[in-house]
Amino acid sequence: MINGDQMLWGSATAAYQCEGAWQEDGKGTSIWDDFVHSNKNTKGITADVACDFYHHFEEDIRMLAEGGQNTFRFSISWSRIFPHDDGIVNEAGVQFYNQVLDICEKYKVLPNVTLLHYDLPSYIGADGWEKRETIDKFAAYCKRCFEIFGDRIPYYATINEPNHNSYCSYLVGNYPPNHVGDVQNLVKVCYHNMVANAKAIQEFRKLKLKAKIGIVNSGASRADILKDTPEYREAKRYANMLFHGWLIGAAVLGKFPDDLGDTLRNLGVDLSFVKQEDLDLIRENTVDWIGDNIYARKVVKPYEFGETQMVVNNDPHHSQALEGVTVKGLFQPDIDPTTRKNPWGREIYPKCGYDALIRLRDEYNNIPVFITENGHGMFETVDEKGEINDQERIEFLEEYLDYFAKAKEEGCNLQGYYIWSTMDLYSWINGYEKRYGLVHVDYENNCKRIPKKSYYWYRDYIEFQKNQ
Ligand code: BG6
Repeated sequence: MINGDQMLWGSATAAYQCEGAWQEDGKGTSIWDDFVHSNKNTKGITADVACDFYHHFEEDIRMLAEGGQNTFRFSISWSRIFPHDDGIVNEAGVQFYNQVLDICEKYKVLPNVTLLHYDLPSYIGADGWEKRETIDKFAAYCKRCFEIFGDRIPYYATINEPNHNSYCSYLVGNYPPNHVGDVQNLVKVCYHNMVANAKAIQEFRKLKLKAKIGIVNSGASRADILKDTPEYREAKRYANMLFHGWLIGAAVLGKFPDDLGDTLRNLGVDLSFVKQEDLDLIRENTVDWIGDNIYARKVVKPYEFGETQMVVNNDPHHSQALEGVTVKGLFQPDIDPTTRKNPWGREIYPKCGYDALIRLRDEYNNIPVFITENGHGMFETVDEKGEINDQERIEFLEEYLDYFAKAKEEGCNLQGYYIWSTMDLYSWINGYEKRYGLVHVDYENNCKRIPKKSYYWYRDYIEFQKNQ
């Protein structure tokens, strides 16, 4: 049971994945527009239209509210606000987000807004986070958003998953700029992300808003082991530090883990880009809350062989690749044969959400936390009655929610929960066949919305929780 009175209950989206209207009303292009149009690894599938949230937002937010949800997570497209590298605001872009906020207000839905969910503007470049100047540009963009939207947005998040995004971009090579095994630049972009987060928070604090600011971690990055030996525990410690310890440490505690520098130097990384002034900025500008996107865990074991790499499976038809990260000399992926897997080979492991919250309670000052994403990707069809019976998703969500409730009962500071996703939308690299929504989108029929069985289940679940 998750006591309902203080909790926010909602669902989540991201600009590139849902908005469409990629060139409408003065919007500039983003690195994802460039990438999907380049035909590199995306099979020509784009999010030019996506689920057309740009023209359906009123309907989507109304449905969300009618489904009992009182909060909506979405992101702002930087290139819709600043289409060009000249600092001139695109008023039509501002108007769009103001209209979205108006509809949230109309339906008493609290917005939780991420300022960057992967889609850097084209002029910043796919390699943008390698460049120090991006820190200042990101902070300037955030500052304008804080000035424009102010307390209309009660919860801001600076960046979505700097860890997962950077690993995909610089280790796997499936996200732009598609570098494979580029550890040197990987470390640099992760570092620049955290300095940019601190700089954006510094701008935010100057305005003395009532709103709260956070950052979103990929909670799927939590490491687990199958044997309790000193070697396995050491593998887990390194994995946790390199997957997310640096992110949450910098964002919440204002410092990177103590032995991170030595660990990276031992891996051959040149850290000459680190500056004392950045570390001071990070120390002085920490978050009010942390977002955790919870899907699975990463099972690791002591290192035996192989180069540093990360594998993700974006092709369920042709590959059952073992997902995971190898860091040469430190750890590599392990397989738990007892856990269920989804069609993409990813573990279904509800306890990972509980473990994530307990660690935030015990190691990160029990900071307020939102589960900013939790959801189940599925192949789905509409049945002969025109309905979508996604019972499997309901069971997935129930199991995860039971563990979040247990963590809350044990004192974890859980304040809100968002299902990924509000409606079906574009899945990075997987396109449209992998569906996550509570609401089905008929892409062949003007993006018509049809609530799934899970939509009604969530409405009843929230109602029940609120009455406890
Ligand atoms: C999260 C991202 O990592 O996972 C979302 O924040 C994403 O944007 C979600 O869609 C699910 O991932 P995927 O690749 O299955 O769509």
